[in-house]
Amino acid sequence: MKSLVTGAAGFVGSHLCETLVASGEPVVGVDNFSDYYDPALKRANLEQLTPLAGFELVETDLNSTDLGALLDDIDVVFHLAGQPGVRVSWGESFGVYLHENVLATQRLLEAARDAKIERFVFSSSSSVYGEVESYPTREQDTPLPISPYGVTKLAAENLCRLYQRSFGIPAVSLRYFSIYGPRQRPDMAFTRFIDAVLAGRPLEIYGDGLQSRDFTFVGDAVEATVAAASRGEPGAVYNVAGGGQVTVLEVVEQLSAQLGRQLEVSHKPASPGEPRITGADITAARIGLGYEPSVTFADGLAAQLEAHLSRHPAATAVG
Ligand code: UGA
Repeated sequence: MKSLVTGAAGFVGSHLCETLVASGEPVVGVDNFSDYYDPALKRANLEQLTPLAGFELVETDLNSTDLGALLDDIDVVFHLAGQPGVRVSWGESFGVYLHENVLATQRLLEAARDAKIERFVFSSSSSVYGEVESYPTREQDTPLPISPYGVTKLAAENLCRLYQRSFGIPAVSLRYFSIYGPRQRPDMAFTRFIDAVLAGRPLEIYGDGLQSRDFTFVGDAVEATVAAASRGEPGAVYNVAGGGQVTVLEVVEQLSAQLGRQLEVSHKPASPGEPRITGADITAARIGLGYEPSVTFADGLAAQLEAHLSRHPAATAVG
């Protein structure tokens, strides 16, 4: 099976590529190295992959490249590329979200019509749910996003569904819930917290810190993603979550415990567009994909911390 991974140099994309290549499958990774965050970090994400014979990197933009040629001998598409970030999707930047998350997905699905694809796995997001009435959320609950980002992820998910319905593209969507672990994006909570510790700054908490997330370890998310390529029901949507509830204050507490000292925090205004709680019912992924999250929150955070410190060895002594 030959795979195409879009967003290959990103946080989850790079881990997915490593797993696929390690299992002996050839992978074509695509990335446009956009500057949402420092592209040098994305290059670093690919350090272990680039020398491997099974991995080919194509540096191009999904919105302008010849996708037919890219999909030519591909069996499985993992479409992870997109403009991430819930909190900054307001205002002028919304155009970028539309372009990267909606238009690029539609373009890829159109190209898939003329290709012989066994599965098209799309990385959607817990942010499609917004504020729901009851938890845990199930895939059949009505999605009502509360951020512009969530609107674009839901639009892309809907495109996957209707291209499956009308043209038989075997598209499967995965709603990832706040993924963390080694190489987490620099705008995400845990990386920001560790960066703050290393710089000797207080950790910024948005709002009271009692908001909770169903955090998912990146290795678990990758397992679900790989399983979706063979077991995912075309047209279906699956929650991919860690299966627990952790508040932001509990994250800070756990980080303090692992670093062996009290961490200074500073509260900032709550960010518009963020749900108070995310929490998934993962029964569908359990049954359909054989998914079972296996990394505890403490172990996953320790893995992220260790990877972060080894990436910034000069900074470990600070603070
Ligand atoms: C994450 C990703 O950034 C999205 O791309 C993804 O689609 C989304 O998960 C999802 O699951 O749908 P988010 O949950 O906001 O979004 O992830 P984090 O940036 O790790 O934030 C987690 C929590 O920490 C949020 O409640 C946020 O308010 C809080 N936070 C974040 C802080 O208190 N301080 C910070 O400096 C950063």
